[in-house]
Amino acid sequence: SRAAKTALGLALLSSSALGQQVNQSLSIGDLSSGYNREMFWLALWAIVISIIIFVGVSWALFYTVQKFREDKNDAAPAQFHGNNRLEVTLVAVPVVIVIVLALLTVRAMARLNPTPAGAYPVTAVAAQFYWNFEYPNVKVDAAAGTGLVTNGNEMIVPSKTKIAVTATSRDVIHGFWVPNLGGQRDAIPSVKKTWQIDNDKAGVYQGNCTVLCGASHANMRFKVIALPEAEYQQFVSAAQAYKAPVAAAGTAAAAGYTIFMQGKGGAGACAACHRVQGTAAAGQSGPDLSFFGSRRTLGAGVWEGADVDTHLHQWIKASSSIKPGSVMPHYDGSTQGYPTLTDQELTDLEAYLKTLQLPDEGNYWMKIS
Ligand code: CUA
Repeated sequence: SRAAKTALGLALLSSSALGQQVNQSLSIGDLSSGYNREMFWLALWAIVISIIIFVGVSWALFYTVQKFREDKNDAAPAQFHGNNRLEVTLVAVPVVIVIVLALLTVRAMARLNPTPAGAYPVTAVAAQFYWNFEYPNVKVDAAAGTGLVTNGNEMIVPSKTKIAVTATSRDVIHGFWVPNLGGQRDAIPSVKKTWQIDNDKAGVYQGNCTVLCGASHANMRFKVIALPEAEYQQFVSAAQAYKAPVAAAGTAAAAGYTIFMQGKGGAGACAACHRVQGTAAAGQSGPDLSFFGSRRTLGAGVWEGADVDTHLHQWIKASSSIKPGSVMPHYDGSTQGYPTLTDQELTDLEAYLKTLQLPDEGNYWMKIS
């Protein structure tokens, strides 16, 4: 009935107003992004001008064919040489069209580049095959001057804010693209490119690597989680105050902690490659694991939700058996120099990793499901 439809519409409207929806569709037609709006209007102008040209040329063609058909014109047509006015017009019209399109393009570029002062800076660091997101302005350790890093291939940002994304890479060339939020850029080793993305709506937006970068290029997904300002501040405060919890002696998590920090038999410490904020683990060659227990995906989007738990065991044991090209050593004896972990030891490690949670996680981004 009409009333039911109206109620459903209102419900949908209010849920989107709360921003509690995941936008899994990849669309450059998402006009709640200022970047995409600018591109939309530019494309619209180009299309409108193209339609006018198409209609004009088609008309001229059919008019000429009709008017100068052989059966209507027995006599030879009038003969003349050159027509200055016509020739100037035929050159001038395309020149004007090109100038108009160029001006519109330059205007769009000027509006989008350079990134406006005051845009919120986030650095996207790509690596085979994951993303770390660094927040130079959010200090987690004032003395050391260390900035916040979010892991789990989740880029958490304030909504309704222009974000100055700086893309770079630790190894090969990758590409950063969240179609709903703005244009794509290459992430190139030792190069830092900055541009803006933005969105008017809080929500979760899907991103992908866009440059063929190795065996798991397709498994290099990430999410941009745009939070309302108040919730974003809540997240930042919690992240700044975060100290990785210390597991009580004798628990599985405590046993896992020891393996994480020291490895087994003096080899294979996770901390050699992974960082955990607030601990001695400061490895830089692997993904940051600071808030591992709060993440919603594993393997840069290979699994989500409940599947993260299901596959964590196999992931630690032999990640490249699941994600081709993953450089993490195997812990099943197949990587030389690395220990074989028993199922119990793997379970202990998982228990430790799951304790790495931001407090009150339900208060901010995890409730966007
Ligand atoms: Cu990284 Cu494709």
